[in-house]
Amino acid sequence: MEKIKVGVLGATGAVGQRFAQLLANHPYFDLTVLAASERSAGKTYRQAANWVLTDPMPPHLADLTVQDMSTELECELLFSALPTSQATEWEGKLAEAGYRVFSNAGAYRMESDVPLLIPEVNPEHLGLLKEQQAKRGWTRGFIVTNPNCTSIPMTMTLAPLHAKFGVEAVVVTSMQAISGAGYPGVPSLDIIDNILPFIAESEEVKMNEEPNKMLGLFQSDHVDMAGIAISAHCNRVPVTDGHTVTISVRFKNKPTLPDILEAWQTWQPLPQQLNLPWAPQPALVVRSEQNRPQPRLDRNEGRGMATVIGRLRPCAVLDVRFVALAHNTIRGAAGGSVLNAELMVAQGML
Ligand SMILES: NC(=O)c1ccc[n+]([C@@H]2O[C@H](COP(=O)([O-])OP(=O)(O)OC[C@H]3O[C@@H](n4cnc5c(N)ncnc54)[C@H](OP(=O)(O)O)[C@@H]3O)[C@@H](O)[C@H]2O)c1
Repeated sequence: MEKIKVGVLGATGAVGQRFAQLLANHPYFDLTVLAASERSAGKTYRQAANWVLTDPMPPHLADLTVQDMSTELECELLFSALPTSQATEWEGKLAEAGYRVFSNAGAYRMESDVPLLIPEVNPEHLGLLKEQQAKRGWTRGFIVTNPNCTSIPMTMTLAPLHAKFGVEAVVVTSMQAISGAGYPGVPSLDIIDNILPFIAESEEVKMNEEPNKMLGLFQSDHVDMAGIAISAHCNRVPVTDGHTVTISVRFKNKPTLPDILEAWQTWQPLPQQLNLPWAPQPALVVRSEQNRPQPRLDRNEGRGMATVIGRLRPCAVLDVRFVALAHNTIRGAAGGSVLNAELMVAQGML
């Protein structure tokens, strides 16, 4: 198979660097374009990016020149790690110009004709692209988004349970890593020896809306929201990578704890069946120890793409409660976006 030429927008940032790492030697994609702001444009990637990952910068990218944003980038597909303001300005313009845009940003996620995709959860929502292109007059280009990094562990764990037992209500508390705020992100004097009980006005709104869209019913030109009542508390904690959530759930059809374990452990969604390059096998890892998952020990499970679950037990207020963890810049950002594009390749949609 001939590789598809791809680019990364916002290539110098926290998520952009993850894209560079995950796309090195990818079987479907050839990363040939790196773009960022005018501050970085014209410099080599080595000069422009303050590399923060433990794996070294892929050597073949180090001397590539970072480009300014434009609609004349020499590739077919773009992975976007732009800040929301820039994504709002550029992603639509690029899709109109014919690029296939896979975005991490919040700009288009809740638009009714834009798939908000987790390939394990709602692959059928890609059907919205027909409506998107018809409505916007885009012939070749489109936008597919992936969710906020904290929606990932929550939605991944709820998806197989919602399908079997019907989720009615959720109380979720996040403990979100510092890298979720990008680079340089949260000032060290604010976060060391501390917990910040506020991230942004929009953070808890995203936790409410995004799972309801992803778990909703695809209806050819829109998605009917799942209608789950969600109460979210979002906190920033002094962890470098890996978002942890504690979740209490009420169900329509009351499952036993073994029913829930079975639903998680037998879940074999589409990316795993298709054995996509970045699909974790298995998608959900259930730990039996009382003190897991922990970000430092569990965030790299499945090369950072798995969701790790633990501490399933009864809840005295709702029905059950548990803990879940996912790597925010891999599964919650760049890896999620790459998996979205892999699914479209495997389904002959690119
Ligand atoms: N971090 C996470 O865990 C995470 C998870 C999910 C989604 N996201 C989303 O992913 C996006 C990127 O987040 P991040 O954490 O990687 O942020 P970041 O570290 O601040 O990086 C921002 C990137 O955008 C570029 N940029 C800034 N202004 C620009 C402009 N005017 N034109 C073109 N490029 C510009 C920067 O380039 P310069 O270096 O040239 O300034 C940099 O490459 C955001 O929308 C965020 O909400 C992040």
